[in-house]
Amino acid sequence: MKIKIANSDPTQFETEALVVLAIDGGDKDNNKPEFQAKADAFSKAAADLVASKEITGRLLETTTLHKPEGVKAKRLLVVGGGKAKNFTSYELRKVAGSAVRALKKSVKSVAIIAPENWGDHADSSSQSTLAFERGGLAEAVKAIAEGAVVANTDYNYYHSDRKQQEIDEFTIVVPANADVKALEHAANAGQIIGESQNFARDLVNEPGNKMTPTILGQRARKMAAEVGLQCEVYSEDKLHELKMGAFWSVSQGSPEPPALIVLRYEPAGAPQQPVLGLVGKGITFDTGGISIKPADGMEKMKYDMAGGAAMLGAMRAIALLKPNVRVISVVCAAENMPSGTAQKPGDVQIAMSGKSIEIINTDAEGRLVLADGLHYAKQLGATHLIDAATLTGACVVALGGINAGVFANDEDYFNRFAGALKKSGEKMWRLPVDEEYKELIKSPIADIKNTGGRYGGAITAAMFLKEFVGETPWIHLDIAGVAWQEESVPFIAKGPSGIAVRTLVELVKSFG
Ligand code: BES
Ligand code: MN
Ligand code: ZN
Repeated sequence: MKIKIANSDPTQFETEALVVLAIDGGDKDNNKPEFQAKADAFSKAAADLVASKEITGRLLETTTLHKPEGVKAKRLLVVGGGKAKNFTSYELRKVAGSAVRALKKSVKSVAIIAPENWGDHADSSSQSTLAFERGGLAEAVKAIAEGAVVANTDYNYYHSDRKQQEIDEFTIVVPANADVKALEHAANAGQIIGESQNFARDLVNEPGNKMTPTILGQRARKMAAEVGLQCEVYSEDKLHELKMGAFWSVSQGSPEPPALIVLRYEPAGAPQQPVLGLVGKGITFDTGGISIKPADGMEKMKYDMAGGAAMLGAMRAIALLKPNVRVISVVCAAENMPSGTAQKPGDVQIAMSGKSIEIINTDAEGRLVLADGLHYAKQLGATHLIDAATLTGACVVALGGINAGVFANDEDYFNRFAGALKKSGEKMWRLPVDEEYKELIKSPIADIKNTGGRYGGAITAAMFLKEFVGETPWIHLDIAGVAWQEESVPFIAKGPSGIAVRTLVELVKSFG
């Protein structure tokens, strides 16, 4: 999709489809939708539909007007933005995405009017501790670009009758007096981030037979070469050399060799520190191993590498956006299989850090690969760690499919992360890492065990990881519930969500 900025009169803009945002009643007594465009041609063209309450401004309500009067565009698509006081960049992304998905079957080029005065509705009394930002026109343009790019993709690659139904040209119409250069820059950043999110989604979408650890390594290498990142991909020998006993133990049941993927972004002018360490769980298929999972729904475990994919997507965006900060990424890829060579419950493994681990359940494999990944990232110089993993079913139970779980051992680092969330428009909710839970992962035979019992499973998994980060500021994202969307929604296709890419990028940008 090509994204353009046009600073022209939207009523005179010639396009197949022009999108205008309508926000639900600015002030309380007036229930009329407010059209987010200076010219009153739009509210005039839609007057009958407003009168009949077919257009109300309800969030993501879409209404098409053909040959609208007083407007050059062939069609007008009115998209609702919801209540004015709740309207943030989070809603704006959804609005742009819904417009793209509503139109992509019928048109190839679309224009959207950027909301000019959306900052005016700012409501500081927001209920959420993770309120999303509004920001100025540049933030609006960036959010629109992100939402549009992500919405333009469908995951029907393996349908042999697949049709190419994508929007090729997307124009964001801004006021005549706007700083076009600055807004082009913002749109470009949004496009890079959206495309990097799609890069991660593409990886996650692939089934286990088309996305082995080796293939994930090849995809990482190809991407790194394209965007100018240093990349090393290691396999079994290196795991032995580094004494990554925890990571290796997960791979030992599969004939597919593991892949240790290391990416580095080291811009010339950047200070020696901080160094961000992005660590991802890359289980390309999780059968559970000897503690095998039930057959029902097991096919979904192809997305157990979504954390690793998020790191690769974020690194792609970072390489293209060029913040002035060092970043390294470690993705631990393996296939978790049962076999005669698989690890067994009761086995004791020695992690790279030297800690001994009693394996209670071979299905708690994500924390094993991450234990060595986190330790290795520190050894490579990371001063700040962040990991993402589809780690626990318990996190899905706790937060459902809306919020990812966030765990942090450092308040300053967490606050910075919360700032990144406000910008990215991704939903995540903090859960505790609290020493009292450590009791649950004590083992009679080893330093720790790899499961903590039925209760607080997302937390005991985080406590396990914490054993391998030491004093280093660290954030852990449990994305098990949000990495795969079961249903289509108006603004994104069902399937891989690409969660965490945007927040990781904003977090890194906050350092550079
Ligand atoms: N990959 C799973 C977690 C998962 C569950 C991801 C649902 C996506 C959706 C992970 O490896 C796992 O199997 N975790 C176990 C841990 C348990 C054995 C302590 C779980 O959550 O059941
Ligand atoms: Mn598992
Ligand atoms: Zn898993």
